[in-house]
Order: sequence, then structure tokens, then C-alpha cells
Amino acid sequence: MLYHLNVKTTTFVNRNTDLFRRIQAQLIAADRKKLKILQVGPGMATKFVGRFNDYGRWRPVKRLETVLRRLPLPDACYENYETGELLSVFRAHEPELTVADIARKPLNVVARNFRDAPVMTVRLDLSDRRAGESAGLLGKFDLVVCMATVVRVPRKLQGTALENLVKFAAPGGLIVTDQDMTGCGMARIEGISHVFRKPAD
Ligand SMILES: C[S@@+](CC[C@H](N)C(=O)[O-])C[C@H]1O[C@@H](n2cnc3c(N)ncnc32)[C@H](O)[C@@H]1O
Repeated sequence: MLYHLNVKTTTFVNRNTDLFRRIQAQLIAADRKKLKILQVGPGMATKFVGRFNDYGRWRPVKRLETVLRRLPLPDACYENYETGELLSVFRAHEPELTVADIARKPLNVVARNFRDAPVMTVRLDLSDRRAGESAGLLGKFDLVVCMATVVRVPRKLQGTALENLVKFAAPGGLIVTDQDMTGCGMARIEGISHVFRKPAD
């Protein structure tokens, strides 16, 4: 593990900006130019409400937003901050971003919100052993970001989900997740993100 960092909220404005900036600083130090990024489980937030919840600081707004986010509103009523933060923080690396999710709705929201950006969406179940093969995503990403998603996978399949994240990373690539991978269980440690580097071949 390279390091772990504090992040405080889910699917709200600036949730991961600091984390992504620190990773970007490392990439600049390592002179990495173009980046292929995979984001798994983008989620979505409610337009006009979520954006007032900077870092998830405002509890009543956070609660309201969590309820609204579950409503079956049209795609146009949602947006995604995590995807935008990735595109913006890693802009200098001309990112090619692939966004994956088990559900169609968050992918539709991403496609709609970032239609002019280099973003591709793909449907996959992270807990499926063959997820990478069926989606053609094996081992090619410099950076794999998966926040608050493995925890949604049934417990007995969480190991497979984590193995898939490792498979998606290119040799020497970084994997960022808030899932505990340290051997002391599959619990998500609230507010902590881990950054791993897959060994180079
Ligand atoms: C709580 S949201 C996380 C949103 C955002 N990444 C964050 O950190 O706030 C969980 C996301 O994981 C997706 N998801 C749940 N189970 C999944 C699975 N088995 N494979 C892929 N995506 C999954 C959900 O559809 C949703 O977009």
C-alpha cells in the first residue's frame, strides 16, 4: 500500500478532490503523461441539491440528498461529481476515462453529463469472476478508482470484486479504494481510502 488518506463523504461535491490531487502530484513526480483511468461505481447525486453539500458537511442537506437520490427521477435530474473530479484533476494527463457500473442509470447520467469528454461507459458486475473478460477490460488501466462500491457487493463475493480491481490495473498501475484489503476482514473503513500499486511485470 502506498498510503491512505482521509475522505469524508459519498457522492458529494469535492468528496475525493484532495485524494485525486495527491495521486496526480505523484504521477507528475513520476513523469506519467497520458492516463487510462477506470472508475467503477460512479453513483449519482441529485442536481441542485447535492452540489450544496460540499464535502458532505451539511447533515440536513446530506440526508435530503440521500433520499432524493433514490427517487426514480429522469436522468436529467442527476449528476456525478466523482467523474467530473477525475476528469478535472487529471486533465493534464489527457485522461481516457472508462466508467463501469452494474446499473444502467448512473452510466446514463455520466454519458449525458460528460458527452463532450473522453468518457466511455460500460456495464459490468464487479462481483462476477468474468467481469473483465466480458467487458474487455483486462489489465490496461493506469488508475482504477472504486469508492463505496465493493461494500455494495454481497459479502461472500467481495473478494472476487477486489481481485477484479487488481486485474483491471495495468502492471505498475494504481488502485484506489475505500475497501479494506489488509487481511483484517472485508469491512469498509468509513472515510479512509487506500492506494495500492500493482507490481510491474
Ligand atoms: C454508493 S454508490 C458509490 C458512488 C461513488 N463512487 C461514491 O464514492 O460516492 C455505489 C455504486 O456502485 C454501483 N454498484 C453496486 N454494485 C455493483 C457491482 N456489483 N458492480 C458494479 N457496480 C456496482 C452502484 O450502482 C452505484 O453506482
